[in-house]
Parts: sequence; structure tokens; C-alpha cells
Amino acid sequence: MTIVTQDLYKKYGNQDALKGINITIPTGMYGILGRNGAGKTTFMRILTTLIEPNSGSVEMNGIPLLPKNVNKIKAMVGYLPQEFGFYPNFTVRESLEYIGLLNKMDSRIIKARIDDILEEVNLIQHTRKKVRQLSGGMKRRLGVAQAILHEPEILIVDEPTTGVDPEERIALRNLLSNYSRDKIVILSTHIIEDIASTCNQIAILDQGRLAFDGEVRSLIKQGEGCVWTAMVYDVEELDLVKESYPVLSTRFLENGIEIRMISRTRPAMECSPVSPSIEDAYMLLLKG
Ligand SMILES: Nc1ncnc2c1ncn2[C@@H]1O[C@H](COP(=O)(O)OP(=O)(O)OP(=O)(O)O)[C@@H](O)[C@H]1O
Ligand SMILES: [Mg+2]
Repeated sequence: MTIVTQDLYKKYGNQDALKGINITIPTGMYGILGRNGAGKTTFMRILTTLIEPNSGSVEMNGIPLLPKNVNKIKAMVGYLPQEFGFYPNFTVRESLEYIGLLNKMDSRIIKARIDDILEEVNLIQHTRKKVRQLSGGMKRRLGVAQAILHEPEILIVDEPTTGVDPEERIALRNLLSNYSRDKIVILSTHIIEDIASTCNQIAILDQGRLAFDGEVRSLIKQGEGCVWTAMVYDVEELDLVKESYPVLSTRFLENGIEIRMISRTRPAMECSPVSPSIEDAYMLLLKG
């Protein structure tokens, strides 16, 4: 199973949102990272056929993304958008029935599938609850349920873990990871930990360009020898360091301030090298 994009361009008016994206996405969990406005949602919306690129091509499991194939692609793809609203007065079950009918699924198939899905997303005890009575995390899980109702081979989820508590976040990412066993799951997020713990392959978008794509461990490798810790004695000294190097964290201790900073060469101060985390490597890439 693969998605291949070639030279994908997208403009909104005269603003470039994607500037030539060439990616191959294999089976499994694929993470997309990038700042606000980097182009993540635009990229995902193209794959779901909601918007068309200005130029470039996409092939999903060998099927070119062309107007004549839109129905085939829609059947293949499930989508949980960044902003997703259900009707607040529908129950959990009614919401899924409704989505199934919108997707033109056979009502017997919908009925047969809903219980399995609610089990899968751990909402089986809440089928009669109204959407407005659900917590934020439960709504996201219902969002995943609607996206996988038609058993798509490709699941695209746009920032599913924003604003949910750690337990829900872990539940959501495990749910997605389970689904990705023999399928493609594309996950965009700002939460680097979610990517680190579930995705082998990732892409990093930066102002519409692909800044990195490949294995998480090769991103981390790029950060080797570039992350340092040091002690500074007061805030004035910290400000001086910040003028020369990006400082990623500070910890105020009794005898001074412990800092973690990135620099491709050994900083001109007393410091020790440390192993990079995925977050360090990501910051290094974006800070150039
Ligand atoms: N419908 C639109 N009309 C005009 N400009 C748009 C539209 N949608 C997105 N953009 C612009 O395109 C660029 C990419 O936006 P996009 O939503 O794809 O970014 P993103 O990476 O998903 O950001 P975020 O992390 O904030 O969700 C941004 O500069 C944004 O302002
Ligand atoms: Mg977005």
C-alpha cells in the first residue's frame, strides 16, 4: 500500500500553501509535523479529494487522484478533520448511522459495523449518550469512529490529540496505531511525543516545503552532536546565551540555571553534549 505525490503545488489566491511536495507514504503510521500554517491541513485535504492541487500528481494505491476516480478514492480514504462537529442532539449511535447514510453505505452494513467500531473506539458503553454530553476526548474517538466506518485502507487524521488529556491522548494514538497495522494512517500533530511513540516514518513541512521525510531515527541522527547542556548563573547570562544559540529549555536550580541548547558546533562556553530527542532534532531542522 502506498501513496505517492509528485511535485504537488497549491495556492490560495496568490499565497503558496504547498510548493512542490514529493512524498512516498508506505503502509503504517505516517506522521506530519510542521508549524502553524506549514501546509499540513492543505496536504491532507488534497489527499481526501476535498480540494484540488494547482499542479502535481497523487497516486493512491496505484489509482491516480483524478476527477474520474474521486468516488474510488473516497471509498478508500477516511478523514477526521482538524475541526469536526457532530450534531449535538444526536446520540453516539445516531451520529454514526447518519455518517454511514451520507457515505451511501447500505443500512444493514452500517448496523452490523457500528457495534464493532464502538467497541474498537471504546464508546460501546455510551451509545445512547448525546454528542453534547461527551467529553472532548470521547468526541475525538467518535470522530475516529466516523472516519473508519467504511473500513478505509487509508485513514487521515488532522491533529486528533490537541486539547485532550494524556490518558485520552494515549488511547487515541493506540487506536490509530492498531488501525495502521495493515493500512496507511496519516497523522498530523504538533505533539512530537505522539509521533515519536507511534510513527516510523515522518514528514516535516516548513512553509509549504518538505523539510524532511524519512525515519524518525534518521531525523534524530541529524541532531547528534548538536545538543548541549550548560549552567548559567543568572538571567542576564541566559539572555546573552540566547543571543547566540536557540535555547530549548531552562531549569532554575539552587546554584544557577540549567539550559539545553542547540548548536551545530561546540558553543563557546563550558557545556556538555547530550543525546538529541526528536524534539531537539525537529527544532534544529526548523532553526536551520
Ligand atoms: N481556505 C484558505 N484560504 C486562504 N488561505 C488558506 C486557506 N487554507 C489555508 N490557507 C493558508 O495556507 C497556508 C497553509 O495552511 P494549512 O491550514 O494547510 O496549515 P497547517 O500546517 O495545517 O497549519 P495548522 O498547524 O495551524 O493547522 C497558511 O498560510 C494558511 O493561511
Ligand atoms: Mg492544520
